[in-house]
Parts: sequence; C-alpha cells; structure tokens
Amino acid sequence: MNQSLTFLGIESSCDDTAAAVVRWSDAGAEVLSSVVEGQAALHAPFGGVVPEIAARAHAERLDHAVEAALAQAGVPLAGLDGIAVTAGPGLIGGLLSGQMLARGLSAATGVPLISVNHLAGHALTPRLTDGIGFPYLMLLVSGGHCQFLAVEGPDQFRRLGSTIDDAPGEAFDKIAKLLALPQPGGPHVEREAALGDPKRFAFPRPLLDRPGCDLSFSGLKTAVLRARDEVIAQNGGLTVQDRRDLCAGFQAAVADVLAEKTRRALAAFPAPVLAVAGGVAANVVLRERLQVAAAQAGARFLAPPLRLCTDNGAMIAWAGIERHRAALPPEGGMAARSRWPLDESAAPLIGHGRRGAKA
Ligand code: KG4
Ligand code: ZN
Repeated sequence: MNQSLTFLGIESSCDDTAAAVVRWSDAGAEVLSSVVEGQAALHAPFGGVVPEIAARAHAERLDHAVEAALAQAGVPLAGLDGIAVTAGPGLIGGLLSGQMLARGLSAATGVPLISVNHLAGHALTPRLTDGIGFPYLMLLVSGGHCQFLAVEGPDQFRRLGSTIDDAPGEAFDKIAKLLALPQPGGPHVEREAALGDPKRFAFPRPLLDRPGCDLSFSGLKTAVLRARDEVIAQNGGLTVQDRRDLCAGFQAAVADVLAEKTRRALAAFPAPVLAVAGGVAANVVLRERLQVAAAQAGARFLAPPLRLCTDNGAMIAWAGIERHRAALPPEGGMAARSRWPLDESAAPLIGHGRRGAKA
C-alpha cells in the first residue's frame, strides 16, 4: 500500500515568518512549497531583533504565509495529515503567535497538531533534502547557535559540544559592525577576507588548548577589536587593506577552530556523514575546511541548499512528519519554551548568545 503524509509547517521563533507544505511518501520527501517572509528591514534600525516588533510582525503575517504556502502547494487545509508548529526555543511572543494560529487551524479542521523543537527541524533537515539514514553528525552554525549533535533518531540527539558564549554568525556580525560593514555581516566579512592576508594579525584560536568539542568566539571578537584600535592609534585610521586583513585573520581563526573541533567530534562520534545547517554554512572558506575534515575522517560532507539551512517552515513540517512516522508523542504541548536544549541531559551552557538570537 502506498503511504503518504502531507504536513504544514509553521515557524515563527525569531524574525522569519515561515510556512511550508512537505509531503513524504514511499518515493521520498518533497517540499511542495516554502514561504519565508523575513523581517530584517523592520529590525535593522535597532541593530538586532526586537522581540515585541517580531511578535507583532508574526501575528500580522502568519495568516498570509500559511495561505500562500497552501496555495502554492495546491493543498487545501482538509488535505493535510498534520500541522507542525515550532514550540521553541525562541522568542516567546513569536512562538505564541505561531501556536495560536496552528491551534486554531487544527481545532477548525480536526487535523492533528504537533509541536516541535526548532533545533530538531535544523538537525533533521539532511533527511528531508538527501534522505540519509541515522546516525550522522550535525554541525549547526547560525547567528544564534553553534553545536555538534550526534543525531541517532528522530528524537535522539546527543550534544557533543557547543559554544560557551557567542555563536559564530553573531561573531561575524559583530566584526562587521566593528569595521563599519553592513548587517548581516557574514557575507561582507567573507568578501573582504578574500582580499586580505590571514597571517598579518595573529588572532587566538579559543579553546583549542582544551580537550573536547566546546567552542568560544567572544575572546576572538575582543582580539579583533584590540587589533583594530592599535592600527587606528598608530596610523590615525584604517585603510581598505587593514580592514581586509582584519577580516581575513578573523575568518581564518573561526575556520581553524571549527575544523579542528569538527575533527574531534568525528573522532568521538565516527559517523558516516557530517551535515551542516545554519547561515554560517554559506561561508565558502569554512565549507572547504569542513569538507576536508570530513574526508580525513572518511565521512561524507553534506550541506543542504541554503534556503533549507536557514530558518524555514519546511524543516518544521519535516520534523512533524518524522515524529508522526516514529509514533512519537507531540512535543511541548501548547507551552512555548524560550530555552529548549535538544539534549536535555547535556550540561547547561555557560552563555546563551545574544538576546533575541536566532536558533
Ligand atoms: O541561519 P541564519 O540565517 O539565521 C539564524 O541565525 O538562524 O544565519 C544567519 C547568520 C548571520 O549571523 C550571518 O552573518 C551569518 O549567518 N552568515 C554568514 C555568511 N552568510 C550568512 N557568516 C559567515 N559567512 C557567510 N558567508
Ligand atoms: Zn534556526
């Protein structure tokens, strides 16, 4: 008998209002539609995501995103087998907006509601895009998160290491700010770095001297700030080349640290696949380094298309399908959780990244 499941996914945990329809069948998984309405322009004047503005924008836009996702997929509400919605981690106001809508749709149609963990959505994406089996190693590198996860089942995640302070995307954004580059800073820093000398400034490689897979990026940011100020004090300002060299030195340090920690994570958990997710995975230099680290460990390197690596509704729909297929109970109930580690048994992190950070 042919089996098929069609799920709507709703995502509103940070500053992307997203909805998508995903279908799984014996033939594989298919993203029928994926609508992402970003809010970057609303938050730009404030230099970061403002939770109240985000919550209001989600409340205003979610209806439209869901309607558009269903229309593009050509699936009526009654044709859905499930509605999956992010219950955390993230900003409470946005999470509640998504949950209220999902609950209303479920109550009106009788379609089952499944609350899912946003990080599970990221972590399970390689199964949606490439149909890989368990286990695999996931490196999540975004504006709000940095962690190595041993993924052993739809509900089995073991955190092997994570940042103890800033996320790498956050560090890229802060470096861009220090050097008067536009936000989000990652792509701009990468572009400048390509024209710079990565050896001119000797920046630290934080936590490489300690065993394990934990990471830290805040000291690196301070080192770049100091180097910038020294150059300004000596020369009265920054030249174009100074800026390029600072970017190159910073990016080389991030890449070194992530490559080495990836090697250690693969040694601790020799998985057949290393998969990445998150906006920082767009960085070409970093990708190349991770690819080499994976190859050295005999692992396949997998980077899903960027639109499914960054926040989106398809990963939430997929996480719902995974839970449904595995007959796992719906997570989280109606509670929105601002903090929600995938691996509840892992030690709490010392730092949690910026307020209003994306997951
Ligand atoms: O995954 P994402 O879109 O949002 C979340 O944080 O969930 O990631 C955004 C982050 C930003 O901090 C941005 O600066 C960073 O990803 N980023 C990059 C690059 N493109 C985006 N960082 C380094 N190099 C890039 N090419
Ligand atoms: Zn995310």
